[in-house]
Amino acid sequence: MDGSFFECVDAGSENCPCYLALTNDCMTCTRLKGLDYCDCRWAGVCIYNEFIWNGKQVKNLREDINARIVNRKSYHEVEVLVLKTDKYLVQRFKYPGTYIFVRNPEDRSIYDVPISIMDTDPGKGEIHIAVKTISAKTKKIIKAEESLIIRGPYRNGLLGLKNIKDALGGKMLVLAKSMGMAPAVKLVKYFDGHCEIDLMADMNRLRNDFAEEYLSGCHVNVQDMNFKDRKDLDIIKDLIKKKDYEKIVIFTSDKYISIFDALLKSIGYYKDYAVVNNFNMCCGEGVCGACSVKTEDGKVIKMCKCQMKGEEVAKRGQKNV
Ligand SMILES: Cc1cc2nc3c(=O)[nH]c(=O)nc-3n(C[C@H](O)[C@H](O)[C@H](O)COP(=O)(O)OP(=O)(O)OC[C@H]3O[C@@H](n4cnc5c(N)ncnc54)[C@H](O)[C@@H]3O)c2cc1C
Ligand code: FES
Repeated sequence: MDGSFFECVDAGSENCPCYLALTNDCMTCTRLKGLDYCDCRWAGVCIYNEFIWNGKQVKNLREDINARIVNRKSYHEVEVLVLKTDKYLVQRFKYPGTYIFVRNPEDRSIYDVPISIMDTDPGKGEIHIAVKTISAKTKKIIKAEESLIIRGPYRNGLLGLKNIKDALGGKMLVLAKSMGMAPAVKLVKYFDGHCEIDLMADMNRLRNDFAEEYLSGCHVNVQDMNFKDRKDLDIIKDLIKKKDYEKIVIFTSDKYISIFDALLKSIGYYKDYAVVNNFNMCCGEGVCGACSVKTEDGKVIKMCKCQMKGEEVAKRGQKNV
C-alpha cells in the first residue's frame, strides 16, 4: 500500500467471499491471495473461514432480477422510475452509496448500466432511480415499458464511506451537481433527522429538478447554486468557515471534486471528506477490470470494490491509469 485507504467495500458483507476468492485474488485475505499465512489487517469475520464454511463458493451471488416498473415520471432528459422488487432486497439498498446495474429486459448484459439508488420504500418493496438519457445503454433503459433487469446491491457508489459512517449528530455539508443529486437524495434521506444537513445543489445543466419532490419532507437546508460562479463558491467557503462541518460529501464530476478540494485547502479545512464514485463500472464484481487503477507502488486495484479517500480522488482523478 502507498498510505492510501484501499479497503474492499464488500469485506465481511453478505456478499463476501466473492468471485475473487475463487481465483486467489481476494483484496483483503492473504490466504485467499494464495499465500500460506494469515496476515490481513481486516478486523471483521475471518473471510477465509467463511470461504471454507461456504464450500469454497461465492456467497450470495448477485443475480439478475426482473423488476416491474410501477411508476415513472419524466423530467425532460431525466426519467425517474419506481421499481417493484421484494421487501428483503429493498432493505439491502438503504445505505448511502448503494447502486445497481440496470438494463432493458430485451438486451444482453453488455447493456448493464450502474445507477444509484435514489430512494427506497421498504414497506412497498420499491426502489426509486433517476436515469439521465445519454447514449446506447441509458436510451434502452428509458424505452423499457413493463420492467427492468436489475442486479445488486453494490456498495461502492461513495468513496470515503468510513468518514460518514459515524456522522450521526453532527453538521454535514452536501455539494451536488446534476445527476449527483440522485445519490445525494439517498444520503440526505438516510441522515435526515440525525444530522444538521446543508445541501448546495447545482442543477444548472438539467432543466427540471427531479430531486425536489424527494427532499420536500426532509429537514435539510437546500440552496440553489451555480458552481461555475465565483460568488457562489465564496458563499460555500464562508459557510464552511462559519459552520466548520464535521462531514462533507461531494457528488460532482472529477473537475468539481478538484475545485472543492482546492477550496477546502484554501481555508485550512483538512478533514477527510467523501466523494461520489465516478469510475467506469462494467461488472461491479472486481472481475472485468473496467474500473482498474494502478496505485503508486504499481498494484492494480478495482474501484468497484476498493474504497479511496476523497482527497486521493481529487489528487489523481478517476481515470483508469
Ligand atoms: C456508481 C455509479 C452510479 C451512477 N448513478 C447514476 C444515476 O443514478 N443516474 C444516471 O443517470 N447515471 C448514473 N451513473 C452514470 C451512468 O452509469 C452513465 O451515464 C451510463 O453508463 C451512460 O451510458 P450510455 O450508454 O447511455 O452513454 P455512454 O455514451 O456510454 O456514456 C456517457 C458517459 O457516461 C459515463 N459512463 C459510460 N459508461 C459508464 C459505466 N459503465 N460506468 C460509469 N460511467 C459510465 C462516461 O463518463 C461516459 O462519458 C452512475 C455511474 C456510476 C459509476
Ligand atoms: S467494474 Fe468490473 S472489475 Fe470493477
